Amino acid sequence: MTKTIGFIGTGMIGGALARLAVAAGYNVVVSSARGPEALAGFVAELGPQVRAASVEEAADAADLFIASIPLGAFKSLPAAHLAGKIVIDTMNYYPSARDGNFPDIDAAKLTTSEMVQQHLKDSKVVKALHNLDFHHLFANARPAGDAGRTTLPIAGDDAEAKKAVGQFMDTIGYSAVDIGPLAESWRIEPGTPIYVWPYVPAIPEGLNEKDARAWYLENAGEPLSAEQVKQITANTERHFPVGGSPDDLPPIHVTLVGEVYKSRQ
Ligand SMILES: NC(=O)c1ccc[n+]([C@@H]2O[C@H](COP(=O)([O-])OP(=O)(O)OC[C@H]3O[C@@H](n4cnc5c(N)ncnc54)[C@H](OP(=O)(O)O)[C@@H]3O)[C@@H](O)[C@H]2O)c1
Repeated sequence: MTKTIGFIGTGMIGGALARLAVAAGYNVVVSSARGPEALAGFVAELGPQVRAASVEEAADAADLFIASIPLGAFKSLPAAHLAGKIVIDTMNYYPSARDGNFPDIDAAKLTTSEMVQQHLKDSKVVKALHNLDFHHLFANARPAGDAGRTTLPIAGDDAEAKKAVGQFMDTIGYSAVDIGPLAESWRIEPGTPIYVWPYVPAIPEGLNEKDARAWYLENAGEPLSAEQVKQITANTERHFPVGGSPDDLPPIHVTLVGEVYKSRQ
């Protein structure tokens, strides 16, 4: 069984996944752009299962590695250190302002995860855990067998790697369904029907702003079965322009993420 999860990126999504991994009993090695010293507070908060390291050390230590950085920085994934390893790609393409532009992706010649796989040519890349926001990673997580347990799509070119990722997801509270190879992962990218919206709750009418926010943060979406995820993704049309935009997201999500960015200034 996978014992140590390595991370590059401990921001909103990497940080949330690290917390879920610790809760599930894994050892975690985190890394980020600013180096291990900058992660001292995060490590102290999460306790003895977690240590901070350089990106290369986190890759070396990992049985399973999670890439949670802006897509525009994907070349900083240490390919040699990740050779032979399974890499979960949580990265989404937000063109121009955040990630720049990738012409082959804009022209739908490649999916973002195919591009990452080309960089990590000796690794097994699995697109996963990218299509719900970090608040709802916590709100939707449920043990196996729970009636509220939901399903997330995964894509990849290696069946064994997808199986291992599915097993990891199972332990942190999610069922996984394989929607195909990385070439098909456009079906689960930003702007598609399986992206974010199914995993957030509908906010009841009549709530004031404070209560609406609390409702949104505390509740999950309606649970999805594997069959439902397969059906939604099979019926998805390619999203153009390729990549995400705030217009595709729940307005309250955009506000909440904006607040996080503002708090960092
Ligand atoms: N936010 C969400 O709810 C969400 C949901 C699903 C998927 N995603 C995707 O997951 C990825 C991360 O998003 P996020 O919201 O977690 O971002 P974030 O909060 O801004 O965190 C980004 C993390 O990446 C690190 N980083 C940035 N450039 C790096 C580099 N060149 N080398 C090493 N580490 C680097 C940062 O390190 P420092 O802190 O040291 O600068 C930080 O830990 C994005 O691709 C995003 O689209 C996000």
